Amino acid sequence: MTDALFSPAYLRDPHPALRALREDGPVHRAVLPTRLPVWVVVDHEAAKAVLADERVAKDHRRLGEIMSAKLEAAGGDPRLSALYRGNMLVMDPPDHTRLRKLLAKDFTGRRVEQLRPRVERLTADLLDAMPSDVEVDLVEHFAFPLPMTVICELLGVPESGRAPMRTWSQHLMGEAGAAAALTASGEITSYLTELIAAKRADPGDDLLSALTRASDDGDRLTEAELLGTCLLLVVAGHETTAGLIGSAAEWLLRDERTRARLVEDPDLIPRAVDELLRLTSPVSLTTARFTKAPVRVGGTTIPEGEVVLVSLPAANRDPARFADPDTFDADRPTGHLAFGHGLHFCIGAPLARLEGEIALRHLLARFPRYTGTVPADDLQPRRSLTVTGWRALPVVLDPA
Ligand code: HEM
Repeated sequence: MTDALFSPAYLRDPHPALRALREDGPVHRAVLPTRLPVWVVVDHEAAKAVLADERVAKDHRRLGEIMSAKLEAAGGDPRLSALYRGNMLVMDPPDHTRLRKLLAKDFTGRRVEQLRPRVERLTADLLDAMPSDVEVDLVEHFAFPLPMTVICELLGVPESGRAPMRTWSQHLMGEAGAAAALTASGEITSYLTELIAAKRADPGDDLLSALTRASDDGDRLTEAELLGTCLLLVVAGHETTAGLIGSAAEWLLRDERTRARLVEDPDLIPRAVDELLRLTSPVSLTTARFTKAPVRVGGTTIPEGEVVLVSLPAANRDPARFADPDTFDADRPTGHLAFGHGLHFCIGAPLARLEGEIALRHLLARFPRYTGTVPADDLQPRRSLTVTGWRALPVVLDPA
């Protein structure tokens, strides 16, 4: 049954395959297109349990060894495991605790809230710059540039670096195959290494400059940690939010009742953003974890030394947790796992919510009648197992 996972039909709409799997049980074995054998968790309760279980760990050194060995045994490319090194997302306590604390000192709620006027301005400018009476791609001209500009401004990446950054990041998401991901990893590393050196020599008031100075009781980020953190922020900070904005805009094309309600009552938008996060799950599979010991979850025992992934789209539409899970209901209690759960819960969630809310508010206020120009069935999904969303969303913003 796991054959249906990761097929072209799955990328377009993963829910039929995930529903069938969930009905068959909470935990399944599957093989990724890279040939890596993994265990996939598909129900909400088991997903939360796995994400909170310290025996299901992330330590990149051990995970790298496990993944290289498994890839090699399966005839895949063992070098792919190297993409998983060097940032808090692939660390366990105490390393994770230390890095997250150092980042949290500078990446505060206050810093995010201070961005609000700038995000409002950028959003308005992007909408102004698009023609309203002819077809325009909302993903290319709105969903991507907004979070990309915000994260680059926040970190202090100069304008000239933003176009290559977008390509590297897309390749790191696996959208152009394994070889391109490895090349992109090398290129983005060189670029950011030079940028960090430039910030050290001539600091600004950006987050990257702050991180070069960040210290906690004399503890500092090493060069490698700084690089890893910066790379993580660039990629995690825009791929996901772009997915959310594009998928939310597409959802509202089809769900006209919800769109009319949000146009009429924009105060509902913050809650709608969370419900759209649940329905569209911009991160599809969590990053890899491995079992440090045999772990019993959802009635299955996963042996020690196995790679475990949680399907967030599956957990977020589990009918045991969310009644009528495929429909939009802004009034339902939250509890979705779109930002993960446990120690690695998304540190960028406040920024993502801010951007999602502002993007939808401006789009619906300016262009309440925006219309799709290709049938929903012809939209192309992104070719990634990590992030969901559309490669393009052609619309006319203000149809006659
Ligand atoms: C972690 C989702 C936006 C930075 C995560 C995780 C998820 C997630 C599911 C946990 C992954 C795991 O446990 O394997 C999302 C979604 C977003 C979003 C759906 C947008 C809609 C952002 C933004 C930033 C960011 C805007 C930064 C500016 C991070 C970082 C981590 C993380 C640094 C690692 C935290 C840790 O390991 O402790 N995110 N994210 N994310 N996210 Fe986000």
